[in-house]
This record gives sequence, C-alpha cells and structure tokens, in this order.
Amino acid sequence: MVETQIIGRNISDKNVLEAMRSVPRHLFVSKKYRSGAYADHPLPIEQNQTISQPYIVAIMTELIQIDSSSKVLEIGTGSGYQAAVLGEISDSVYSIEIIPELADRAAELLDSLNYNTVHVKAGDGYKGWPEIAPFDAIVVTAAAPEIPQPLVDQLKEDGRMVIPVGEGYQELLLIIKKNDEIIKKSIIPVRFVPMTGEILK
Ligand SMILES: C[S@@+](CC[C@H](N)C(=O)[O-])C[C@H]1O[C@@H](n2cnc3c(N)ncnc32)[C@H](O)[C@@H]1O
Repeated sequence: MVETQIIGRNISDKNVLEAMRSVPRHLFVSKKYRSGAYADHPLPIEQNQTISQPYIVAIMTELIQIDSSSKVLEIGTGSGYQAAVLGEISDSVYSIEIIPELADRAAELLDSLNYNTVHVKAGDGYKGWPEIAPFDAIVVTAAAPEIPQPLVDQLKEDGRMVIPVGEGYQELLLIIKKNDEIIKKSIIPVRFVPMTGEILK
C-alpha cells in the first residue's frame, strides 16, 4: 500500500510514511471488508459512513506538517484510522465524532491498540474543542459547505487546517493562518461524506 499508493503518488514526509506503515488498517475495517482494507479506495464503515482512501489520509497528514509536539484536532473520527495515523506522529491528538456509537467504538479500538495520546469525544465538531484550543493543526474529514469559523478561531498563528469544502463537487483546501488572516490553497478534488450538525442550520 505505502509503496504503490503513497510513495508512488509523491508523498515523501518520512513521519507520514512511517505512520502509514505502522497502523494496522485492517483492524479499523469491519470483518466483511477486511480483505480489501489496504486497497486504493475508501470503504464503508458502520452508520453509513466511510473510512477514507489510504492516499487521502496520507496527503491530509502530510499537508498539516506535524511533529510529536503538535497539538492536533480531527473532526470526524469515523473508524479512528486517521486519528491513529495522527497519533503515530503527534503526542496530542483530539478527535470529535458526531455519531456517539462511532465515537465509542473508535475510542475503544484506539485504547486497545495503546493509542493513549489520542482523545476521542462524541459531539459536533463544528464548534471545535475550545477547552483544548488553540491547535497547531486541524484535519476535517467530512465535507463542509463552508469553512467553519470556530475552527479557524481555534487555529494557532501559522497553524494549518485541511478540509474538504463544497456540496456535490468538493475540493480539499489547505488553510494557513497568518496574522489572523487565512491563506487558502486548493489541493485536489475529493469526495467525502457531508458534515452534519450545526453547519447545516
Ligand atoms: C469520512 S468519515 C471519517 C473517516 C475517519 N477519519 C476515519 O479515519 O475513519 C466522516 C466522519 O465525520 C463524521 N461527522 C460528520 N459531521 C460531523 C460533525 N459535525 N462533527 C463531527 N463529526 C462529524 C461522520 O459521522 C463520519 O464518521
């Protein structure tokens, strides 16, 4: 998976490659889909949600340029796989999932695999995690119609956020906070499940 799908598509950050090699992706996928766990596409998980394609997890992780000291927020825990990849690199990862059953399942799995520095909570990620903010990096893994302002507010100066934005057609945006302004860069077209909750009101 790493050689052909990740290095083969020009992901070169050593921490990201190491993390992608280390996390047992098959354990984050239900038994029914396990034989395809390392294939080059997303897979269904419970509650009509998805675990992202390995390449998308890798590029999102590379774009936020984290190291062990980075405080990272993920919105959309899903299976917990992206959180585990982040947890291989950073010593403080916070992840929010709006569907309580998924949050509980991911927290349990991450715990059983000793990802002790990954903290999962059930809730609406639109509001971020103000008690823990500010963050060096934020990864949003559900598509938002617009960039949630509370997440921008919770990003540190020079902080980086990756987020799929758009309805129907979505693009992956890299957002960098500089002097309280944001710089937006469009990376690639993507297809994520939609963000739900307050953003739709
Ligand atoms: C593409 S899946 C996430 C994949 C996940 N990162 C993984 O590695 O398995 C998107 C997830 O975002 C969650 N989600 C949608 N809207 C949300 C919100 N407002 N706050 C938190 N989670 C949300 C969905 O329930 C779903 O589990």
